[in-house]
Amino acid sequence: MKSIFAVCLSLTLIIQAQAQNTYSILPQPAKLMPAEGQFTFKSNTAVVVTKEAAAFTSVAKMLSDQLNASYGIKLSVKNGSTSSNAVNFTFNDQLAEEAYQLKVTKNKIDIQAKTGKGAFYALQSLFQLMPAQIFSTTPSNQTASASACSIEDAPRYNYRGLMLDAGRNFFPVAFIKRYIDLMAVYKLNTFHWHLTEDQGWRIEIKKYPLLTSQSSIRKESMVGKYSDMKFDHTPYGGFYTQEEIKEVVAYADKKFITIIPEIEMPGHSQALLASYPQLGCNPDKIYEVATKWGVSEDVLCPREETFTFMENILTEVMALFPGKYIHIGGDECPKTQWKQSRFCQDLIKKLGLKNEHELQSYFIGRIDKFITSKGKRMLGWDEILEGGLSPNAMVMSWRGTSGGIEAAKLNHDVVMSPNSYFYLDYYQANAKTEPLAIGGDLPLSKCYSFEPDLPELTEAQTKHIIGIQANVWTEYIKTPAYAEYMTFPRALALAEIAWSPKAPKNYSEFVGRVKKQKNNMDALKINYCPVELK
Ligand code: ACM
Repeated sequence: MKSIFAVCLSLTLIIQAQAQNTYSILPQPAKLMPAEGQFTFKSNTAVVVTKEAAAFTSVAKMLSDQLNASYGIKLSVKNGSTSSNAVNFTFNDQLAEEAYQLKVTKNKIDIQAKTGKGAFYALQSLFQLMPAQIFSTTPSNQTASASACSIEDAPRYNYRGLMLDAGRNFFPVAFIKRYIDLMAVYKLNTFHWHLTEDQGWRIEIKKYPLLTSQSSIRKESMVGKYSDMKFDHTPYGGFYTQEEIKEVVAYADKKFITIIPEIEMPGHSQALLASYPQLGCNPDKIYEVATKWGVSEDVLCPREETFTFMENILTEVMALFPGKYIHIGGDECPKTQWKQSRFCQDLIKKLGLKNEHELQSYFIGRIDKFITSKGKRMLGWDEILEGGLSPNAMVMSWRGTSGGIEAAKLNHDVVMSPNSYFYLDYYQANAKTEPLAIGGDLPLSKCYSFEPDLPELTEAQTKHIIGIQANVWTEYIKTPAYAEYMTFPRALALAEIAWSPKAPKNYSEFVGRVKKQKNNMDALKINYCPVELK
């Protein structure tokens, strides 16, 4: 099968090379049949939504809005039957949830989908068949056209994610919306919003107001490399109100992006303890919001009071985020304080547990039960495997792929996010010439080389790998511009692995398309890293 597919793809590429049009859609569609000529948008071109496709009206409106913003062409969206000199949106119930068909000819454009989401992805591909001006918000009176072709497309994975850490550094709502916009251009569908950290709590919880009035503020931040131990002596803070969160969730929904909130526990909780020390193992300790990067020893103590507190927080969080998954962190929870705590040691004995790892598993298991009882699914970093994986947990594998493999073998769903391929806080080029980053060595080519089908897993176990995600941790990423720089172009590699068919993948061909994508990224004003795109 693979070799037939390889031959077909090579033939497609040869045909593409011979055709008048060239195509450089990212992520690469599953099937693209080249054609000659262009469709030209005119002032009397219609955007037609057929009766069965009424649910796609908001997507059709996005097309007319974007044509208006970039070319000043005002096309009205109307209901009716398909016609020529039109972009026709039709319903096709034979297609999968996120699939679409897009046919561009000289006379018309036909978009078929089963859901608004599929229609939305057709639109994203259509934009990439047009000059980069379609992504600009400075109107031009150039001709708006789209290269003719026929596309049949559907994603390889249902979960195509990017994580942004708003804990170490805070990113304003306007940037979160822009990040969502940029994800949508490349058909990513899950935004993992890391909202709580040792260095700052970033989400308003009405029941516990100190989390925002105190725990969101640290007294100073590190400057330069960790080893320099230099601080800026300047208070730093920021948080999202519940109203802002609702606004962002609704915004993302329009772009068919689900948001997964992450509320860390029992580790990475020092900021929380700064306001509510009774939840720590040393209630008398004067905890402060952390100012140094790294893993804090100050963790939550598994008392009943702590569970009640965290469940109250999760109740507010679940009301804000309508998606299925709630991320509870679970990573990097040092056991030092649990080892020294009379309460923890007694609890281990009382519950018949072997050690502190099983105590962590008990903690996560209780939270899993609570989240599951509310009709949601719990997601945690791969440390939640230690001491036993709780029954409904989904695992995000970050310390390589081994945690994900172990979880898939236990028939748990997994998102692969191995640090060596998808930690976008790592250097993407020469550390001597790049802006300061946390470390690592992760060029675009390394990102693109990740293959989520792993030889350790059977076909049935492989089905538990529901997708992939890249993570932008922000110890050294203080500004939106730098966050974009670290995200792009590497997010394009992620998007392509997540969306496009498995094989064969050709890095130089991919880079060729990324280079062509520079025009679009420039029109979108993305501050991408240019090093590998020269
Ligand atoms: C992690 O990087 N601690 C998930």
